[in-house]
Amino acid sequence: MFETLAPEPEDQIMALGALFRADPRQGRIDLGIGVYRDAAGRTPVMAAVREAERRIWEGETTKSYTALAGDAAFNDAIVDLVLGEGLARSGRVSVAATPGGTGAIRQAADLIARARPGATVWLPDPTWPNHPAVLAPAGLRVAHYRYYDAATGGVDLGGMLADLGRAGAGDVIVLHGACHNPTGADLGPEGWAAVVGLCAARGAVPLIDLAYMGFGAGLGADAAGTRTLAHALPEVLVAVSCSKNFGIYRERTGALIALTPEGSRRAAMQGTLTALNRTAYSFPPDHGARIVATILADPGLRAQWEGELDAIRTGMIANRAALAAELARLGGGARFDRIAAQRGMFSLLPVSPGAVARLRADHAIYLVANGRMNVAGLTPANVPAVARAIIAAMAEGAAG
Ligand code: LMR
Repeated sequence: MFETLAPEPEDQIMALGALFRADPRQGRIDLGIGVYRDAAGRTPVMAAVREAERRIWEGETTKSYTALAGDAAFNDAIVDLVLGEGLARSGRVSVAATPGGTGAIRQAADLIARARPGATVWLPDPTWPNHPAVLAPAGLRVAHYRYYDAATGGVDLGGMLADLGRAGAGDVIVLHGACHNPTGADLGPEGWAAVVGLCAARGAVPLIDLAYMGFGAGLGADAAGTRTLAHALPEVLVAVSCSKNFGIYRERTGALIALTPEGSRRAAMQGTLTALNRTAYSFPPDHGARIVATILADPGLRAQWEGELDAIRTGMIANRAALAAELARLGGGARFDRIAAQRGMFSLLPVSPGAVARLRADHAIYLVANGRMNVAGLTPANVPAVARAIIAAMAEGAAG
């Protein structure tokens, strides 16, 4: 029967990683996959995570099952972290732990399809390529709205609102909570307020992908848009990832949070999230969730984690400023100023696909084909070479 299967196209981000690993050139630079690296090029285990693991290892007496929706200590802690305590205690919140942020998007897709089969899901253009890949197989219709203004490097709010003005009641609007992937261009307070008005007017439901909380402007600031929507709208979905901000990528730790209006609907929502976990994988993975719960419950560990997270965030901002300054110094002009203004792990370099190909072929610098750069792959030591290569790759294109 399996002769019916066609070869799947490779995931472009993973394929790029394989090309990088196979490249024998000394000094090759990986600005591809969204994994944090420090100035030495390592993806370290955070000290707070190590200490939490030590405590778990010493204190854990069983590996028996937890609960289908995940361990309550993790679920409560992640809801508090994302929504703040006021909303967390409002009686509007359902939550299920999931295998990473992708698992949360996957469970959201099934939840939406169960509530409204064939619903339309609106994605920003551009977005993380796995969004349509995960959402469409649930039978959802994928539509796109304008998001990025390539001329300014900011959000095209007018275009976004015009496109989403065509959304219907029960449509779902995917938003990046902070640190937009791949552009680094985020909505500000005005943009989030406009999204509230739009969702209220159209009867659309936001699905916020919060994969980089703490990587942009700080933990609270990165949750501000999510909280604005959660307070103002009756129904909101939030897909949370702990992969990046706790650095526990392979532990697959995340959660799907659903807000419903106060009253009786919560029981049906919590029951559905629990049933969706049961039918997808029974119990969500626990080790990463236990690490997160241990850190968030202990004031000392929490302060240590927040300090480490802040160092990661400010390091990426410093990388951004250094690259933008070096590109300006080399005559790149104002077009690269956006790199310093954008936030999170990614920016879209304003260069052609040809320049991206030349950066890889001629300079051993790896970016995603659309020009997405992982700014955490920059270091004080490699910034001058990256800037020179970008200018050279652009010039080669102009000459060719
Ligand atoms: C990325 O966008 O590079 C990361 O989110 C990793 C992934 O799974 O694609």
